[in-house]
Amino acid sequence: MKGIILAGGAGSRLYPASLPISKILLPVYDKPMIYYPITTLLLAGIRDILIITNASDIQNFEKVLGDGSQIGVKFSYMIQDVPRGIADSFLIAQDFINNEPCALILGDNIFHGFGFSSMLKRVGQKTTGATVFGYAVNDPHRFGVVEFDNNNRAISIEEKPQNPRSNYAVTGLYFYDKNVVEYAKTLKPSQRGELEITDLNNIYLKNQKLDVEILGRGFAWLDTGTFESLLQAANFIKSMEINTGMKIACIEEVAWRMGYIKEEQLLDLAKKYNNDYGQYIKKIVQTSANKRLNSNTVV
Ligand code: G1P
Repeated sequence: MKGIILAGGAGSRLYPASLPISKILLPVYDKPMIYYPITTLLLAGIRDILIITNASDIQNFEKVLGDGSQIGVKFSYMIQDVPRGIADSFLIAQDFINNEPCALILGDNIFHGFGFSSMLKRVGQKTTGATVFGYAVNDPHRFGVVEFDNNNRAISIEEKPQNPRSNYAVTGLYFYDKNVVEYAKTLKPSQRGELEITDLNNIYLKNQKLDVEILGRGFAWLDTGTFESLLQAANFIKSMEINTGMKIACIEEVAWRMGYIKEEQLLDLAKKYNNDYGQYIKKIVQTSANKRLNSNTVV
């Protein structure tokens, strides 16, 4: 399965903070925002990832992420010169997708919760139909909203409805089968001039090929669109990391746990960071070595 991160747009709601650099590279506590969606794709077993961004930002993304080989994955880059909508990604990425199933995540979407890894693993193995993720929110009119029947089957999705039929927002993470490019080609721009991801999801829904996974209570889907929500997201990550002693979305760690790089490569990466981030990587290697040692000890 291929993966796409949509990291375009001007990010003007965060000006002047995001004037010199893409919003998606701004820090959320201790790492660039894009580390979070990268982690989501890695956990779904996706290693071939296309980052779609503005021409002026490509160099910065390359500086942060390179070609991905350092963490055993492949990053490539393409440009979206005009923000033509989320579903435009599939037209831009047609050659990259190459008739395979594909996941798309918005660059500013942060997911965190118990059981997410196994959910992603399961969804990442599907090869037919589409999957989206529903999350209960306070202000559904700001999002795509999914309505369910009594059997919890999705029956409609509406983009930013004035009178939402449920409080379940469709989050910015989508999995599609190999038909996605063909379907995207049939979309017409909406009133706001964009190719809407909701219209694409409605094609799958009409064909009875759309699954909606619910991200339940206790799950965090964080917004980073305003100064306030960006700071709240950073505070959330900080308190989770401090309470548990584990980092969220340390891509080096995730790549190692997924088996994409070996311990030696991970330790090499740690050397780049003469700070808490580097210490953390060394610590998790040490902890796993200790565990191995203990499990080999015959008492
Ligand atoms: C977009 C989608 C919407 C979805 C949201 C998730 O909204 O159009 O369906 O719920 O992302 O973040 P936009 O960012 O274009 O307002």
